[in-house]
Amino acid sequence: MSNFAEETVLSVHHWTDRLFSFRTSRQPSFRFRNGQFTMIGLKDGTKPLVRAYSMASPNYEDYLEFFSIKVQGGPLTSRLQNIKDGDPIVVGQKPTGTLVVDNLLPGKNLYLLSTGTGLAPFLSLIRDIETYEQFERIVLIHGCRFIADLAYCDYLTNVLPEDEIFGELVREKLIYYPTVTREPFRHVGRITHHLQSAEFFNEIGLPPLSAASDRIMLCGSPQMIQDLRGLIEGLGFVEGNHGEPGHFLIEKAFVQR
Ligand code: A2P
Repeated sequence: MSNFAEETVLSVHHWTDRLFSFRTSRQPSFRFRNGQFTMIGLKDGTKPLVRAYSMASPNYEDYLEFFSIKVQGGPLTSRLQNIKDGDPIVVGQKPTGTLVVDNLLPGKNLYLLSTGTGLAPFLSLIRDIETYEQFERIVLIHGCRFIADLAYCDYLTNVLPEDEIFGELVREKLIYYPTVTREPFRHVGRITHHLQSAEFFNEIGLPPLSAASDRIMLCGSPQMIQDLRGLIEGLGFVEGNHGEPGHFLIEKAFVQR
Protein backbone atom coordinates (compact mmCIF):
# COMPACT_ATOMS: atom_id res chain seq x y z
CA MET A 1 0.00 0.00 0.00
CA SER A 2 3.01 2.30 0.06
CA ASN A 3 2.02 3.97 -3.22
CA PHE A 4 -1.48 4.62 -1.93
CA ALA A 5 -2.74 6.99 0.73
CA GLU A 6 -6.02 6.51 2.51
CA GLU A 7 -8.24 9.56 2.13
CA THR A 8 -11.72 10.32 3.45
CA VAL A 9 -14.78 11.09 1.35
CA LEU A 10 -15.87 14.67 2.10
CA SER A 11 -18.96 14.90 -0.11
CA VAL A 12 -20.78 13.08 -2.91
CA HIS A 13 -22.99 14.55 -5.62
CA HIS A 14 -25.14 12.35 -7.84
CA TRP A 15 -25.87 14.01 -11.19
CA THR A 16 -27.92 11.16 -12.66
CA ASP A 17 -28.31 7.43 -12.14
CA ARG A 18 -25.19 7.03 -14.31
CA LEU A 19 -22.95 9.88 -13.16
CA PHE A 20 -21.62 11.20 -9.86
CA SER A 21 -18.83 13.35 -8.44
CA PHE A 22 -17.16 13.22 -5.06
CA ARG A 23 -14.55 15.05 -3.04
CA THR A 24 -11.92 13.52 -0.79
CA SER A 25 -9.34 14.79 1.65
CA ARG A 26 -5.85 15.29 0.20
CA GLN A 27 -2.41 14.59 1.61
CA PRO A 28 -0.41 17.84 1.46
CA SER A 29 2.42 15.78 -0.06
CA PHE A 30 0.23 14.73 -3.04
CA ARG A 31 1.23 17.03 -5.90
CA PHE A 32 0.01 16.95 -9.51
CA ARG A 33 -0.14 18.98 -12.70
CA ASN A 34 -3.59 20.13 -13.70
CA GLY A 35 -4.91 17.70 -16.35
CA GLN A 36 -3.26 14.62 -14.82
CA PHE A 37 -4.86 11.46 -13.42
CA THR A 38 -4.09 9.00 -10.66
CA MET A 39 -5.26 5.54 -9.59
CA ILE A 40 -8.04 5.64 -7.03
CA GLY A 41 -10.40 3.10 -5.56
CA LEU A 42 -11.42 0.98 -2.63
CA LYS A 43 -9.67 -1.52 -0.43
CA ASP A 44 -10.53 -5.05 -1.49
CA GLY A 45 -9.04 -7.42 1.05
CA THR A 46 -5.33 -6.75 1.10
CA LYS A 47 -5.09 -5.28 -2.40
CA PRO A 48 -6.72 -2.01 -3.46
CA LEU A 49 -9.17 -2.21 -6.39
CA VAL A 50 -8.30 0.87 -8.42
CA ARG A 51 -8.93 2.61 -11.74
CA ALA A 52 -7.46 5.68 -13.43
CA TYR A 53 -9.32 8.89 -12.56
CA SER A 54 -8.45 12.42 -13.61
CA MET A 55 -8.43 15.05 -10.92
CA ALA A 56 -11.37 17.37 -11.65
CA SER A 57 -10.20 19.80 -8.98
CA PRO A 58 -7.29 22.18 -9.59
CA ASN A 59 -4.00 21.41 -7.87
CA TYR A 60 -4.12 24.31 -5.41
CA GLU A 61 -7.27 23.11 -3.61
CA ASP A 62 -6.84 21.22 -0.33
CA TYR A 63 -9.31 18.55 -1.48
CA LEU A 64 -9.47 16.24 -4.53
CA GLU A 65 -12.53 15.97 -6.75
CA PHE A 66 -13.35 13.10 -9.12
CA PHE A 67 -16.11 12.62 -11.71
CA SER A 68 -17.24 9.05 -12.31
CA ILE A 69 -19.63 6.89 -14.24
CA LYS A 70 -21.63 4.18 -12.49
CA VAL A 71 -21.26 0.89 -14.34
CA GLN A 72 -23.80 -1.64 -13.12
CA GLY A 73 -21.81 -4.77 -12.44
CA GLY A 74 -18.52 -2.87 -12.86
CA PRO A 75 -15.97 -4.19 -10.34
CA LEU A 76 -15.10 -0.77 -8.91
CA THR A 77 -17.88 1.66 -9.85
CA SER A 78 -20.72 -0.61 -8.74
CA ARG A 79 -19.25 -0.24 -5.23
CA LEU A 80 -17.83 3.26 -5.56
CA GLN A 81 -21.25 4.72 -6.43
CA ASN A 82 -22.42 3.88 -2.89
CA ILE A 83 -19.71 5.83 -1.05
CA LYS A 84 -20.84 8.24 1.66
CA ASP A 85 -19.24 11.13 3.53
CA GLY A 86 -16.62 9.79 5.93
CA ASP A 87 -15.88 6.61 3.96
CA PRO A 88 -12.24 5.69 3.26
CA ILE A 89 -10.90 5.78 -0.28
CA VAL A 90 -7.43 4.92 -1.58
CA VAL A 91 -5.61 7.45 -3.73
CA GLY A 92 -2.45 6.56 -5.65
CA GLN A 93 0.36 8.97 -4.86
CA LYS A 94 1.93 8.87 -8.33
CA PRO A 95 -0.17 11.07 -10.62
CA THR A 96 0.65 11.04 -14.33
CA GLY A 97 -0.94 11.82 -17.69
CA THR A 98 -0.40 13.47 -21.05
CA LEU A 99 -2.96 16.28 -20.84
CA VAL A 100 -0.58 18.94 -19.61
CA VAL A 101 -0.05 22.24 -21.37
CA ASP A 102 3.74 21.66 -21.65
CA ASN A 103 3.09 18.76 -24.05
CA LEU A 104 1.59 21.18 -26.57
CA LEU A 105 3.46 23.44 -28.98
CA PRO A 106 2.71 27.13 -28.47
CA GLY A 107 -0.58 28.13 -30.09
CA LYS A 108 -3.39 30.65 -30.13
CA ASN A 109 -6.56 28.70 -29.34
CA LEU A 110 -6.88 25.64 -27.12
CA TYR A 111 -9.72 23.20 -27.81
CA LEU A 112 -10.62 20.89 -24.92
CA LEU A 113 -12.87 18.19 -26.39
CA SER A 114 -14.67 15.77 -24.08
CA THR A 115 -17.55 13.36 -23.86
CA GLY A 116 -19.07 12.10 -20.60
CA THR A 117 -16.66 11.93 -17.67
CA GLY A 118 -13.85 12.92 -20.05
CA LEU A 119 -14.70 16.45 -18.91
CA ALA A 120 -12.81 15.86 -15.63
CA PRO A 121 -9.21 16.82 -16.53
CA PHE A 122 -10.49 19.94 -18.30
CA LEU A 123 -12.27 21.11 -15.15
CA SER A 124 -8.85 21.28 -13.56
CA LEU A 125 -7.13 22.87 -16.58
CA ILE A 126 -9.67 25.68 -16.93
CA ARG A 127 -8.93 26.73 -13.35
CA ASP A 128 -5.19 27.01 -13.98
CA ILE A 129 -3.78 30.49 -14.63
CA GLU A 130 -1.08 28.97 -16.86
CA THR A 131 -3.73 27.75 -19.33
CA TYR A 132 -5.01 31.33 -19.72
CA GLU A 133 -1.48 32.70 -19.99
CA GLN A 134 -0.59 30.33 -22.83
CA PHE A 135 -3.72 30.72 -24.96
CA GLU A 136 -5.86 33.56 -26.25
CA ARG A 137 -9.02 31.47 -26.33
CA ILE A 138 -10.01 28.20 -24.69
CA VAL A 139 -12.93 26.31 -26.21
CA LEU A 140 -14.35 23.64 -23.91
CA ILE A 141 -16.78 21.28 -25.64
CA HIS A 142 -18.67 18.71 -23.55
CA GLY A 143 -20.69 16.21 -25.58
CA CYS A 144 -23.31 13.99 -23.95
CA ARG A 145 -26.41 12.08 -24.93
CA PHE A 146 -28.84 14.05 -22.76
CA ILE A 147 -29.03 17.46 -21.05
CA ALA A 148 -29.05 15.80 -17.62
CA ASP A 149 -25.65 14.24 -18.45
CA LEU A 150 -24.09 17.71 -18.85
CA ALA A 151 -22.60 17.64 -15.36
CA TYR A 152 -21.06 20.95 -14.18
CA CYS A 153 -23.13 22.85 -16.80
CA ASP A 154 -24.55 25.25 -14.23
CA TYR A 155 -21.13 25.73 -12.63
CA LEU A 156 -19.49 26.44 -15.99
CA THR A 157 -22.30 28.69 -17.21
CA ASN A 158 -23.17 30.65 -14.09
CA VAL A 159 -20.65 30.17 -11.29
CA LEU A 160 -17.14 30.10 -12.80
CA PRO A 161 -17.67 33.30 -14.90
CA GLU A 162 -18.44 35.11 -11.64
CA ASP A 163 -15.50 33.59 -9.72
CA GLU A 164 -13.50 36.12 -7.74
CA ILE A 165 -10.15 34.95 -9.14
CA PHE A 166 -10.99 33.45 -12.54
CA GLY A 167 -14.18 35.29 -13.49
CA GLU A 168 -12.56 37.97 -15.63
CA LEU A 169 -10.27 35.54 -17.48
CA VAL A 170 -13.14 33.11 -18.01
CA ARG A 171 -15.45 35.78 -19.42
CA GLU A 172 -12.73 37.04 -21.74
CA LYS A 173 -11.17 33.74 -22.88
CA LEU A 174 -13.26 30.65 -22.14
CA ILE A 175 -15.96 29.45 -24.54
CA TYR A 176 -17.99 26.68 -22.94
CA TYR A 177 -19.96 24.70 -25.51
CA PRO A 178 -22.17 21.93 -24.11
CA THR A 179 -23.79 19.77 -26.79
CA VAL A 180 -26.22 16.85 -26.68
CA THR A 181 -27.14 14.26 -29.27
CA ARG A 182 -30.42 12.71 -28.19
CA GLU A 183 -32.80 15.53 -27.31
CA PRO A 184 -33.38 19.16 -28.29
CA PHE A 185 -31.00 21.70 -26.71
CA ARG A 186 -29.32 24.98 -27.63
CA HIS A 187 -26.46 22.96 -29.19
CA VAL A 188 -27.26 19.60 -30.76
CA GLY A 189 -24.84 17.19 -32.46
CA ARG A 190 -21.64 15.24 -31.97
CA ILE A 191 -18.33 17.05 -31.51
CA THR A 192 -17.17 15.61 -34.83
CA HIS A 193 -20.14 17.28 -36.51
CA HIS A 194 -19.52 20.70 -34.93
CA LEU A 195 -15.83 20.70 -35.81
CA GLN A 196 -16.73 20.22 -39.47
CA SER A 197 -19.44 22.85 -39.56
CA ALA A 198 -18.93 26.48 -40.55
CA GLU A 199 -21.94 27.36 -38.40
CA PHE A 200 -20.13 26.20 -35.24
CA PHE A 201 -17.06 28.36 -35.93
CA ASN A 202 -19.26 31.34 -36.81
CA GLU A 203 -21.08 30.88 -33.54
CA ILE A 204 -17.92 30.83 -31.41
CA GLY A 205 -16.32 33.57 -33.48
CA LEU A 206 -13.16 31.65 -34.43
CA PRO A 207 -11.76 30.47 -37.78
CA PRO A 208 -11.98 26.76 -38.73
CA LEU A 209 -9.38 24.45 -37.15
CA SER A 210 -5.80 24.94 -38.27
CA ALA A 211 -2.63 23.26 -37.02
CA ALA A 212 -0.86 26.61 -37.35
CA SER A 213 -2.86 28.26 -34.60
CA ASP A 214 -4.93 25.67 -32.75
CA ARG A 215 -4.07 23.10 -30.09
CA ILE A 216 -6.36 20.28 -29.03
CA MET A 217 -6.76 17.94 -26.06
CA LEU A 218 -9.08 14.92 -26.27
CA CYS A 219 -10.62 12.95 -23.44
CA GLY A 220 -13.67 10.72 -23.66
CA SER A 221 -15.19 7.69 -25.32
CA PRO A 222 -12.89 5.53 -27.48
CA GLN A 223 -15.09 5.97 -30.57
CA MET A 224 -15.05 9.74 -30.18
CA ILE A 225 -11.26 9.72 -29.75
CA GLN A 226 -10.79 7.52 -32.79
CA ASP A 227 -13.00 9.65 -35.03
CA LEU A 228 -11.58 12.96 -33.81
CA ARG A 229 -8.03 11.73 -34.18
CA GLY A 230 -8.78 10.82 -37.81
CA LEU A 231 -10.40 14.18 -38.43
CA ILE A 232 -7.62 16.33 -36.97
CA GLU A 233 -4.75 14.23 -38.32
CA GLY A 234 -6.39 14.73 -41.71
CA LEU A 235 -5.96 18.47 -41.11
CA GLY A 236 -2.24 18.04 -40.41
CA PHE A 237 -2.31 18.01 -36.60
CA VAL A 238 0.50 15.95 -35.06
CA GLU A 239 0.12 14.21 -31.70
CA GLY A 240 2.34 15.34 -28.84
CA ASN A 241 3.64 13.52 -25.82
CA HIS A 242 6.00 13.88 -22.90
CA GLY A 243 9.20 15.42 -24.14
CA GLU A 244 7.80 15.82 -27.65
CA PRO A 245 5.21 18.59 -27.78
CA GLY A 246 2.68 18.46 -30.59
CA HIS A 247 -0.55 19.98 -31.91
CA PHE A 248 -2.85 17.64 -29.99
CA LEU A 249 -2.91 15.30 -26.99
CA ILE A 250 -5.00 12.26 -26.05
CA GLU A 251 -5.54 10.82 -22.58
CA LYS A 252 -4.79 7.16 -23.19
CA ALA A 253 -5.38 5.89 -19.67
CA PHE A 254 -8.93 7.14 -19.86
CA VAL A 255 -9.48 5.49 -23.23
CA GLN A 256 -8.56 2.07 -21.89
CA ARG A 257 -10.79 2.36 -18.89
P1 A2P B 1 -24.52 9.65 -29.85
O1 A2P B 1 -25.68 9.85 -28.93
O2 A2P B 1 -24.79 10.09 -31.25
O3 A2P B 1 -23.94 8.25 -29.79
P2 A2P B 1 -21.59 7.75 -24.66
O4 A2P B 1 -22.59 8.06 -23.57
O5 A2P B 1 -21.99 6.62 -25.55
O6 A2P B 1 -20.17 7.67 -24.18
O7 A2P B 1 -21.63 9.04 -25.61
C1 A2P B 1 -21.36 10.33 -25.15
C2 A2P B 1 -21.53 11.31 -26.30
O8 A2P B 1 -20.52 11.04 -27.29
C3 A2P B 1 -22.86 11.15 -27.00
O9 A2P B 1 -23.37 12.44 -27.28
C4 A2P B 1 -22.52 10.39 -28.26
O10 A2P B 1 -23.36 10.66 -29.37
C5 A2P B 1 -21.15 10.95 -28.56
N1 A2P B 1 -20.38 10.07 -29.43
C6 A2P B 1 -20.40 8.74 -29.51
N2 A2P B 1 -19.57 8.28 -30.46
C7 A2P B 1 -18.99 9.39 -30.99
C8 A2P B 1 -18.04 9.58 -32.02
N3 A2P B 1 -17.53 8.56 -32.69
N4 A2P B 1 -17.67 10.84 -32.30
C9 A2P B 1 -18.20 11.90 -31.63
N5 A2P B 1 -19.11 11.77 -30.66
C10 A2P B 1 -19.50 10.54 -30.34
